[in-house]
Amino acid sequence: MFLIVFPILVLFGASLQPSNGQVFNPIHYGAKGDGISDDTAAVRAALAAAASNNGGEVLFDAPFAFLTGCFNVTSNVILNVKGTILASQDSSNYVQIEPLPWYGGGQDAQLSGNLEWQPVVRSYKASNITITGGGTIDGQGAPWWTCLHRGNDSEHLVGAPCNGISRPNLIMLVYTTDVTIYDITLKDSPSWTTHLAYCTNVHISHVTVLAPWDSPNTDGFDIDCCVNVLLENSFYSGGDDAIAVQSGMDYFGRTFGRTTENVIIRNMTIERSHGLSIGSEMSAGIRNVTFENISVNGSDAGVKIKSQRGRGAFVQNVTYTNIRLYNVK
Ligand SMILES: *[C@@H]1O[C@H](CO)[C@@H](O)[C@H](O)[C@H]1NC(C)=O
Ligand SMILES: *[C@@H]1O[C@H](CO)[C@@H](O)[C@H](O)[C@H]1NC(C)=O
Ligand SMILES: *[C@@H]1O[C@H](CO)[C@@H](O)[C@H](O)[C@H]1NC(C)=O
Ligand SMILES: *[C@@H]1O[C@H](CO)[C@@H](O)[C@H](O)[C@H]1NC(C)=O
Ligand SMILES: *[C@@H]1O[C@H](CO)[C@@H](O)[C@H](O)[C@H]1NC(C)=O
Ligand SMILES: *[C@@H]1O[C@H](CO)[C@@H](O)[C@H](O)[C@H]1NC(C)=O
Ligand SMILES: *[C@@H]1O[C@H](CO)[C@@H](O)[C@H](O)[C@H]1NC(C)=O
Ligand SMILES: *[C@@H]1O[C@H](CO)[C@@H](O)[C@H](O)[C@H]1NC(C)=O
Repeated sequence: MFLIVFPILVLFGASLQPSNGQVFNPIHYGAKGDGISDDTAAVRAALAAAASNNGGEVLFDAPFAFLTGCFNVTSNVILNVKGTILASQDSSNYVQIEPLPWYGGGQDAQLSGNLEWQPVVRSYKASNITITGGGTIDGQGAPWWTCLHRGNDSEHLVGAPCNGISRPNLIMLVYTTDVTIYDITLKDSPSWTTHLAYCTNVHISHVTVLAPWDSPNTDGFDIDCCVNVLLENSFYSGGDDAIAVQSGMDYFGRTFGRTTENVIIRNMTIERSHGLSIGSEMSAGIRNVTFENISVNGSDAGVKIKSQRGRGAFVQNVTYTNIRLYNVK
């Protein structure tokens, strides 16, 4: 029984009713949708029009493939991905953003000196955002993974597209409330796939996350400084944690002080992964997390609660029920 009310659940199985009935189609803003032409400007124009309208449906229709750099999703937007969004592999289609204050640096901070490429799909201080449509958001992460490892040390951000700056997440929703992500495939993220950063009231269902087993940091679902999250009925096979419940890192996380709490993760199927994780970034504490009815087959690890010396805080009231681990190292 999930006690939190999700007003947007009525969307399941129902036809989408965007605000003012408006549909914003990047094709109408000049996108080619051929998977080769750079559609960044048209995609951003469609999102900007939806923002001016205080929301609506932004339609990435099938059978089109939209090659685009990063963009912002604003309040009351339904990102309806029936076709494919192909993330650009050219960093000139990305903008640099401030790192999260509870990290104190970009995701590859020790390498990048705190700068971060904007995630492909990002919201900031928004509410009522839906990402759905049955299609695919493909991060095309291969060159980003390569530049992380390029050079003669183990990890660098040398060369394009990294150019010395932290890789983008595929989706990052920041300070966002009332989030629904369902019926979509998320593939080959340059780094973390779905990063919920200081979100409240989140429902994720029927999401498939895919990445090669050796792709670096391709976490599936990072639930980071969030309250009231239901993650269910989803699939992960990738290169890092299938799920990571977190709350900031060291001094920055403790100072920021946003505890992650009231999280339910259930009915998940996990294949290649580093497991179901709590931490290691958990400096504002984590409480009240349930993992239920989860099958893990072929992972490096099953269940992990991890921290680091000096990290601080607490992990409380975590329940694991009916977790089935097969072929776990
Ligand atoms: C997205 O919004 C941020 C502000 O939150 C801004 O700095 C950035 O330039 C925007 N990105 C794009 C692609 O417009
Ligand atoms: C959420 O956004 C959708 C799409 O624009 C809209 O139809 C709906 O009314 C919004 N819900 C609320 C509570 O504002
Ligand atoms: C490491 O790479 C740098 C730059 O590519 C090069 O100058 C240096 O000689 C290399 N060091 C070794 C030990 O290969
Ligand atoms: C569990 O998730 C699968 C999709 O992975 C779905 O087909 C099934 O209906 C879900 N079961 C329940 C009880 O929701
Ligand atoms: C813990 O989370 C559950 C929902 O998962 C909620 O019903 C309960 O109120 C929470 N407990 C506290 C103390 O917040
Ligand atoms: C438990 O998860 C499995 C898939 O891993 C699914 O087939 C089944 O319907 C789930 N049961 C419940 C009660 O959610
Ligand atoms: C502990 O977790 C259980 C299961 O989510 C919840 O029902 C209960 O309210 C939690 N207790 C506290 C003290 O948070
Ligand atoms: C685990 O995966 C292997 C390889 O795909 C498969 O042969 C096996 O049947 C699976 N086991 C379970 C219990 O699902």
